[in-house]
Amino acid sequence: MKSHPINAVAVAAALLFAASAGAQQTDVAGLNERYKDPDLQVEVWVGRFESEGREVFDFREEIVASIGLEPGQAIADIGAGTGLYEPLFAAAVGTEGTVYAVDIVPRFIEHIATKAAEQNLTQIETVLGDDRSTGLAAGSVDVVFVCDTYHHFEDHEAMLASIHQALRPGGRFVVVDYERIEPRIEHIRADKAQFTAEIEANGFRLTEEVEIEGMVENYVLHFERI
Ligand SMILES: C[S@@+](CC[C@H](N)C(=O)[O-])C[C@H]1O[C@@H](n2cnc3c(N)ncnc32)[C@H](O)[C@@H]1O
Repeated sequence: MKSHPINAVAVAAALLFAASAGAQQTDVAGLNERYKDPDLQVEVWVGRFESEGREVFDFREEIVASIGLEPGQAIADIGAGTGLYEPLFAAAVGTEGTVYAVDIVPRFIEHIATKAAEQNLTQIETVLGDDRSTGLAAGSVDVVFVCDTYHHFEDHEAMLASIHQALRPGGRFVVVDYERIEPRIEHIRADKAQFTAEIEANGFRLTEEVEIEGMVENYVLHFERI
């Protein structure tokens, strides 16, 4: 088949236009406005994040098991929200380990700290980050976990640099996010392939995509820091 350069240019322009239009549809900063609301009601979000029917809640034990945490390790949950994963991580790393629960929302951080104190989970430490930084010390963690949060990063390159810096050499980075399929096409700014490419372009190597039977809306990617 003959190629027609002019058509190829037109197709490329159309694709570029479609891609930029798609990018404009997702207002990433807008996604976080509801969390940054000073009147945020944490219990409302506990009801949304920690309830059956949300895959990352239903499959939380399988997701944590896929990481293979060991006693004494340090893990950071960036975008910890209501702290859904913190007790599971605390059990996996034990009292000698550390779980850093990081979020940009003070009310979520206070809620996690209160629950950790009530449950005597002394290995949980809360950290208030910001849109460009985890707030973690350099080389302080073995694993960074980001669940339903990567697509909320308003400056993903700055966050990836901060995550890279926080990880020890050879440390692992686990990303759980939504497939860019209906009904979330406009909610998620890019698909798994683009997120993987971004992460790999910023000092990480994809080592595994974990298959969890029955999980269809979300994916679990394991990267290592290089
Ligand atoms: C959809 S919630 C997910 C919460 C939790 N990971 C879960 O799955 O239940 C996204 C969270 O990411 C937080 N977030 C957004 N940008 C962030 C950033 N740059 N650093 C840390 N947390 C961030 C939000 O405040 C919110 O708590």
